[in-house]
Amino acid sequence: MGTLINKRLLLGVTGGIAAYKSADIVRRLREAGAEVRVIMSPSATEFITPLTMQAVSGHPVHQHLLDTGAESGMGHIELARWADAVLVAPASANFLARLAQGRADDLLSTVCLATEAPIAVAPAMNQQMWNNNATQSNLAAVNKNGIKIFGPGEGSQACGEVGPGRMLEPADLVTLTSELFATGELAGLTVVVTAGPTWEAIDPVRGLTNRSSGKMGYAVAEAAAEAGAKVILVSGPTTLTEPERVRTIRVTSAQQMHDAALAQAATANIFIGVAAVADYRPAQTASKKIKKTAERITLELVRNPDILADVAALKPAPFTVGFAAETDNIEAQARQKLESKKINLIAANRVGLDLGFESDENSLLLVEHGQVTELPAQPKPKLARALIRHVAASYRARSGAEIYQLRS
Ligand code: CTP
Repeated sequence: MGTLINKRLLLGVTGGIAAYKSADIVRRLREAGAEVRVIMSPSATEFITPLTMQAVSGHPVHQHLLDTGAESGMGHIELARWADAVLVAPASANFLARLAQGRADDLLSTVCLATEAPIAVAPAMNQQMWNNNATQSNLAAVNKNGIKIFGPGEGSQACGEVGPGRMLEPADLVTLTSELFATGELAGLTVVVTAGPTWEAIDPVRGLTNRSSGKMGYAVAEAAAEAGAKVILVSGPTTLTEPERVRTIRVTSAQQMHDAALAQAATANIFIGVAAVADYRPAQTASKKIKKTAERITLELVRNPDILADVAALKPAPFTVGFAAETDNIEAQARQKLESKKINLIAANRVGLDLGFESDENSLLLVEHGQVTELPAQPKPKLARALIRHVAASYRARSGAEIYQLRS
């Protein structure tokens, strides 16, 4: 099973007796670490109350397309953008017909049209309705549009009949939903990620560091694991919990990060340097706390090794990705770093006193030899997944080109 930690899930509930199980789906999704928001169709509210769904999800339920109050809060486009995935459970025969037609005359179908996130539906209906040719051709159309169909199961039905059309159980739906994120784009590859700041000790209690929460690097490591890679995260000091399915190596100084990263990168396919590495360290570290006796003291600093450049100089080198935090001339500065460090891709972001470091959102400009791609502002986990998708494609394009060169 994949992980749902930090995932934003939109649960659509449509009219059917199985809607009584939707509250349990929300509870289980949240237990698995997801944040859940709920959209209910008018007929769903005949089976389970919006108040129940609000209580279990911890958020007001979204019900209407053109409600001015709701639209000024989180409207249909915001909901569509907010979601990392959409699950419609139960999905009635009527809803499947509407989805097949691409209708946009209620909130749920409109959000399904407007979202870039993966969508899955869990059909629930009487077995005759399920077997009807109209339903089957609607399902084929929905499936052709890339929407996943979870189930249905078979067995005795609320109407007394027996056959296919039962909604899958909540636990199975949660497992299948978590697998929506397992893209397999990096299956079989090893990825090394550096994250967080480094700490360069001046004495036992003081040191030099960089502003970095580590959130972006951890999100990148998690997204790479989700994409099927074996991931090694070399992390400077952070307060974050170690991501699941990732081997985390904790380090303190730039030199330690350098040694750990180079040892791992030597056998990796992809290296992503997200860490905010201190460029300089004190020439000497005092073994005892420095006392404030002198009126003025001078700290001599020496250059730290450049981890990214040293990884890129390995023979053979992994596909090497750097990050650049810039305050101005972003593209030009990024391109200059791409050339001087001889790396394959640089992800540049604008930082200012209030931007980039501790915030939960970020945007990136991906600069490569011959192309520039913009990833707009979005939450860091979502941005990390978009970055990994791009890196996987560029890695494959480069590997393809190398194979072609060897053959020709
Ligand atoms: N980096 C590194 N080792 C260092 C310094 C930086 O691996 N000693 C990596 C960072 O992890 C990041 C990239 O290099 O991926 C860019 O870091 P940045 O600090 O912006 O670049 P510098 O080369 O240090 O240039 P400057 O500080 O002058 O902007």
